[in-house]
Amino acid sequence: MDSKATTVQPQVDRTRLGRRSVAVALVLLFTLNFVVFGSFHGSEQSTTLPPHFDKILSRCRALNVTPAPPPSFHLRTQSDRFQKGTRAVLVKNATIWTGRVDGLEVLKGDIFMNGGIIVAVGVIEKSVLSAHEHDTIDAEGAWVTPGIVDMHSHLAVGPSPELRGAADSNSHKGLVLPFLRSLDSLNTHDDGFALAVAGGVTTSLILPGSANAMGGQAFVMKLRPTEERSSMSLLLEPPYGINGSDVDYTIPPRWRHMKHACGENPARVYQGTRMDTVWSLRKAYDEARTMKKAQDEYCAKALSGRWAGLGSFPSELALEALVDILRGKFKVHTHCYEAVDIDAFSRLSAEMQFPVASYHHAHESYLVPQVLKNSYGGAPGSAIFSTFSRYKRESYRHSEFAAKILADNGLKVVMKSDHSAIVSRYLVHEARIAHYYGLSSSLALASVTSTPSQIMGLGHRIGFVKQGYDADIILWDSHPLSLGATPSQVYIDGVPQFKKPYVSPKPVSSQRAPKTPDFSKEVRDTITHEGLPPLEPTTRTSGPVVFLNVSQLWVREGTGDIRMTEVAANVLFKDGELVWSGSDDELPFVEGATTVDLQGGSISPALVSAGSALGLQEIAMEPSTADGLVFDPLAMDIPRILGERTLIRAVDGLQFGTRDALLAYRGGVATAVTAPAGEGVFRGLSTFISLGSRNSLEKGALLQQIAAVHVAVSLQFESSVSTQIATLRRLLLESSNDEQEFGFQQTSKGSIPLVITVDNADVMASLLQLKREVEAHHNKTMKMTFIGGAEAHLLASEIASMGVGVILAPPRSYPYNWEQRRILAGPPLTAQSSAAWLASHGVTVGLGPESIFGQPIMSTWAVRNLRFDMAWVALESGGSVSKEDALAMASSNIEKLLGVHSGPNSEFVATQGGDLFSMESKVVAMMSGKRRVVDIF
Ligand SMILES: *[C@@H]1O[C@H](CO)[C@@H](O)[C@H](O)[C@H]1NC(C)=O
Ligand SMILES: *[C@@H]1O[C@H](CO)[C@@H](O)[C@H](O)[C@H]1NC(C)=O
Ligand SMILES: *[C@@H]1O[C@H](CO)[C@@H](O)[C@H](O)[C@H]1NC(C)=O
Ligand SMILES: *[C@@H]1O[C@H](CO)[C@@H](O)[C@H](O)[C@H]1NC(C)=O
Repeated sequence: MDSKATTVQPQVDRTRLGRRSVAVALVLLFTLNFVVFGSFHGSEQSTTLPPHFDKILSRCRALNVTPAPPPSFHLRTQSDRFQKGTRAVLVKNATIWTGRVDGLEVLKGDIFMNGGIIVAVGVIEKSVLSAHEHDTIDAEGAWVTPGIVDMHSHLAVGPSPELRGAADSNSHKGLVLPFLRSLDSLNTHDDGFALAVAGGVTTSLILPGSANAMGGQAFVMKLRPTEERSSMSLLLEPPYGINGSDVDYTIPPRWRHMKHACGENPARVYQGTRMDTVWSLRKAYDEARTMKKAQDEYCAKALSGRWAGLGSFPSELALEALVDILRGKFKVHTHCYEAVDIDAFSRLSAEMQFPVASYHHAHESYLVPQVLKNSYGGAPGSAIFSTFSRYKRESYRHSEFAAKILADNGLKVVMKSDHSAIVSRYLVHEARIAHYYGLSSSLALASVTSTPSQIMGLGHRIGFVKQGYDADIILWDSHPLSLGATPSQVYIDGVPQFKKPYVSPKPVSSQRAPKTPDFSKEVRDTITHEGLPPLEPTTRTSGPVVFLNVSQLWVREGTGDIRMTEVAANVLFKDGELVWSGSDDELPFVEGATTVDLQGGSISPALVSAGSALGLQEIAMEPSTADGLVFDPLAMDIPRILGERTLIRAVDGLQFGTRDALLAYRGGVATAVTAPAGEGVFRGLSTFISLGSRNSLEKGALLQQIAAVHVAVSLQFESSVSTQIATLRRLLLESSNDEQEFGFQQTSKGSIPLVITVDNADVMASLLQLKREVEAHHNKTMKMTFIGGAEAHLLASEIASMGVGVILAPPRSYPYNWEQRRILAGPPLTAQSSAAWLASHGVTVGLGPESIFGQPIMSTWAVRNLRFDMAWVALESGGSVSKEDALAMASSNIEKLLGVHSGPNSEFVATQGGDLFSMESKVVAMMSGKRRVVDIF
């Protein structure tokens, strides 16, 4: 999304045929030479040929050549990227999704890789194998797919961890910067490389950021470490001219890529409007058009031997790339969200006559399929997120059904990471969620493999498992679209990427793509309401509701532990409370009961969210829709009338019925603990709310006005960590009777928890020391909880022995910042993930939402996915975290850690067609004893 950049911070193969075309060119040159020679013999005045006229002629002939691999490409026996010493590998007995036949082909068979390419797929002849010494891997029937292709990534230009010394993704030197190249910013030491490969990503298009109307040239890069270790050596099919102007024009060019951006970002960065941005592009393209014309006229003369007074080839380095766009040598990638932007950009493309390869983000492209279909040069692809949305106005009408709707219109769909907006490692999860919301399994897999490779003009070598293609394949531990599927090995250019991969055994049911629920009504509503379908329940009742065909009933024990019972039963709710369950024979007649058939689904305790700004904002980056600024006494002047020790109360700033809250509610999350959305040390007092309520006065809307005191301690703040802790110490040790200091007194006396957003292990150690000190001083146990916890695994035993709990937010850590860099990466890189590791050391673990840089305001969209996040923790734990434990991590543990209590078995969720952990089920009702209602969707 790139907003961070601006607000919060946000060879060419000389193959046989190649040589042949050189020879042909030489013959032509010779002939033309002769013509030139002839013509000036015949004329009165003599014309001298300019120096290097032969180079000029070959350049002129190549002016409008469309990029392509040399014709001999498919005859290659070794990749241009082959790494010396790579052994040939036979992968036996695989279930291969090849990407061919519109993604419908699945082969049972073998794959043989040699020379960095796939030599054979399927049934492989003995003679092929015996010709090469090779290693043999028995896949035992496991799924194999092509390597994942990420068509929108800022990997290694937006650094992980983020450091000022390498913030290289956005130039701020002008709206139109077509001459910049992301390659020049590509830091080879980024932590993101190995992590992306751990998720199966083998190739990424690395784009400059979107601060500018034209941010610069993008480059396709393979993610395997090379012996040469240079940025250059990562490039796949480097375009001509990359080494300077000494270009061999007799070799066919390779595709180049350009980043454009519309809408909010360039307008904001340059204090302009959408009109200014589009004009900046038209003006620049017009200059390029003039230059192109001059070149065409020049070449027409040169090619017909009219050298007199011709001078040198017209060119200007700053315009070179733009002219090449007009000559069809670029894939144009445009960051455009809204219908207005897509419309404006397609007009530009028609006016200047260049095709658009793909709109990126494209949050509204599903609303204007016809605009895409009518585009100059054919319909562009849409590279989108699955559910990351509503963080800015442009993404407000985003739909989780966009991928399906685009595909239904015959338009190309790509899921993209915008790494590190979505961590590239989890790109397949984006495809999984798109599949959950209706994109077919074949197109979902294609959306991260063959479709992006074809859009980038690389469909001849990546994105498929096919003879002659690059040996980039993934062996999966389960079907890649099943939740938690993880690569057990990744090959890039035939080189295995994991020395000792850790694999957690997956259930048999994970070996096929999930059969996803029916969302046809939701899809229709989405289109009818232009992306803003009503999200309120269709029925809200305090009357009796009977759920039929329930196969599992999960309940919360008084201790907070979760217990699951297999039942084949019906379950009755009255006034939102569970009152009865039993078989068909026992089912009492209940007057006026509503019935809901769960088709073998389950009823379980509803989820509890923490760590996001849910309930305080509609659109994170639109201040007029959000609670707003929280003053931090360590970073700014506090208005005297407020008083520097006043703790802000989230309860005073609540908004009910926000789209993210309602979508979370529809995802099985009944309640949330929300803290004021400060970004400094002092945040304030959190509150415990119901997400299904319409306003704060409704019964059961406010479950607890004040939950806990929230602060953050971080290396990223202006004040030192030692200053931050010194301030906390003073507040915790001083016994003041000042009513204003209510919160800190309560925490030091242990009656409400002190919740600290913290990621760094050393900072956590200092906080544990502080806890000891405060407890000794007051002779009272203090409740302390960490939110964040990227490095908590390093202190798991110490944290457990001090009785501190950890809410992991995000649930799968990523080294966004230096203080988060020592993550426990989880399979296949480490045996355990953070959640399982902490739990096994006795730490009470809660799960927060996925998020951008762990920011509460940038996480509200993700709360709806909490059920999949918890399921993932259980799946990758290898059995150490049961489903019951995982459900507690997303419900009762969070209540425990934040000092709130919804009451025993007050909030339930009903799912149809499977349990809450499943990508085959759908949430169909929420039941609340506190609110005394059942909501049916
Ligand atoms: C650029 O230069 C490097 C290093 O000399 C060389 O390996 C590479 O083949 C050249 N690439 C192109 C596209 O000319
Ligand atoms: C392939 O692996 C599956 C699963 O282990 C096994 O059942 C099957 O017999 C194997 N097939 C061959 C041809 O080895
Ligand atoms: C319950 O639902 C399952 C799954 O849809 C179905 O197979 C089964 O027949 C249903 N049972 C009854 C009694 O309707
Ligand atoms: C600390 O508290 C415990 C129990 O609450 C009490 O027995 C003990 O005497 C106290 N110690 C001091 C030094 O006050």
